[in-house]
Amino acid sequence: MKIAGPAVAAVCATLSFWLPGEAHKGITSKFTYNADVYPIFLNRCGHCHVAGGVGPMSLLSYEDAFPWAESLRAELLETEGATADDPAGFIAAAHRNAPARELDVILDWAGGGTPEGDPAMAPRPVALRNEWTHGEPQLALPLGAPYQMPPDAMEAIQEFTWPLALSTAREANAIDVLPGTPAIVREVDLLLRTGTAAPRPLGTWIPKQNPAPLVLSPPARLEPGSTLVARVHYRKTWKYEGQPMTDRSTIGVYFLR
Ligand code: HEC
Repeated sequence: MKIAGPAVAAVCATLSFWLPGEAHKGITSKFTYNADVYPIFLNRCGHCHVAGGVGPMSLLSYEDAFPWAESLRAELLETEGATADDPAGFIAAAHRNAPARELDVILDWAGGGTPEGDPAMAPRPVALRNEWTHGEPQLALPLGAPYQMPPDAMEAIQEFTWPLALSTAREANAIDVLPGTPAIVREVDLLLRTGTAAPRPLGTWIPKQNPAPLVLSPPARLEPGSTLVARVHYRKTWKYEGQPMTDRSTIGVYFLR
């Protein structure tokens, strides 16, 4: 046992160096998760950063949120300047949509020892709300078949079409998407094809903290025999890397009358 002695001593030395450092991580923030940070996460981030949401991690419990302190600082500081109009920037924009005062609270808490606060104020578990946000659509068009995303794919774009069985022309003023698997549905381009012309873009649906249908202004005239086209952009976060995923989203059309 000649070797074991020094090895154990070395391990102990390492532990005694690290453990107290972690355990007594200095708490310098006066903001706590339960009182100050959770309400902001719920209000600004929680629809995406909830179990099963499009964000890769939940921020809605202390245990889920505090390990992300470093990443929160990096993400919130670096996304300055992103705009929601830039399709690739909408997530970055969501990350800085919070007013400066709220961002300061998150950054101060994340850099100041991530105190939890009064356990009596700990939030109740929150589940993802995945439902039509504008009531049932008049026309609900589920994907013809579930899309199977292969384990090794991180991104995929799939096109789905629906010949519209309409007896008269109708004016649609909104389109919504009810994701089948919200974690991977990043963007849906909606187009309308009439006759043999190239499909006309109607707009792009994106996940949002406060989901809302895509408003068509002016309304789109759907002729009998026209075809609705949806290009669904799927993307996995690191959380689902290497896993097969399945989605069967539904497109909802709202008519003016
Ligand atoms: C519209 C949905 C949405 C909203 C709202 C949103 N996020 Fe995100 N967030 C995402 C997605 C999606 C990713 C993963 C980015 C990627 O993989 O491209 C992400 C990534 C992150 C990351 C990086 C995680 C990592 O993997 O390192 C942090 C930190 C983060 N979000 C914090 C926040 C905070 C804080 C808020 C609220 C102020 C917020 N997010 C609001 C969708 C959202």
